[in-house]
Amino acid sequence: MKTQQTRRIIQTIKGQNTSDGAGVKLKRIIGTEELNQLDPFLLLDEFKNDNPDDYAAGFPDHPHRGFETVTYMMAGAFTHRDSNGHEGHLTAGSVQWMTAGKGIIHSEMPEQTDGLAWGYQLWLNLPAKLKMTNPKYQDLSSEKLPILEKDGIRVKILAGEYGGAKSPGKSFIPFTYFDIQLKPGAVFNHLAPSNQNAFIYVIEGKVKSGPEASQVKAGYLGVFGEGDSVQVQSGDDKPVHFLFASAQKLNEPVVRGGPFVMNTMGELKKAFYDYQTGNFG
Ligand code: CO
Repeated sequence: MKTQQTRRIIQTIKGQNTSDGAGVKLKRIIGTEELNQLDPFLLLDEFKNDNPDDYAAGFPDHPHRGFETVTYMMAGAFTHRDSNGHEGHLTAGSVQWMTAGKGIIHSEMPEQTDGLAWGYQLWLNLPAKLKMTNPKYQDLSSEKLPILEKDGIRVKILAGEYGGAKSPGKSFIPFTYFDIQLKPGAVFNHLAPSNQNAFIYVIEGKVKSGPEASQVKAGYLGVFGEGDSVQVQSGDDKPVHFLFASAQKLNEPVVRGGPFVMNTMGELKKAFYDYQTGNFG
């Protein structure tokens, strides 16, 4: 019988300041030169601005093809509109899950004119056979997302399952995404098999993780190596707050160009052509 192996942190990466959309300031954590992707995670952005000048312009109409965007709002409110006729209100604690599939044009614009706008957008790749699936939109309000609290561990289940509770979000591949808060001394344990890539992004405090008690500070991504499960706890006597995600590796070629992520250069060129000729969304 094989003994279970706790996965160690093999890489820590600091988010990079950048801007996107019509000039929204954000921190790019996955999708940078340092970490172009963590199969199947193509991008992770954090936007956290209390100056309206840094978010007011929002993300006007733009296209996507070949993957899904999962946006988790922590504070503030945005409106989403897309070419499929979906309109959604991203309010604090909610998840907006958009399957771009064969093509969608959408906008994400702030509903607020002042105050904090804070959230995370994760891009989840689609397997080659599903890249041209029909676009889909899942609006998961905060009340629909289960929260489990026990022994100093608070887990909000954005995707996947924990402690017998399940997110209503539907994924094409095994995908887990939690918002976790730990009191000092509390230990978060979760199965995450080697066929899944896994990471934590620390929002507040300092965590230690794995057999080597590797430390990951706020503002840093921690990437897990091979193994069967993950273990995270506070790195000192203070509470910690972090995101945890794992998902099945696709092990397929990734050819990305701006808002499109395909498997071949031909498919990428076709995406630009389809968009420019109005055969999109
Ligand atoms: Co978008």
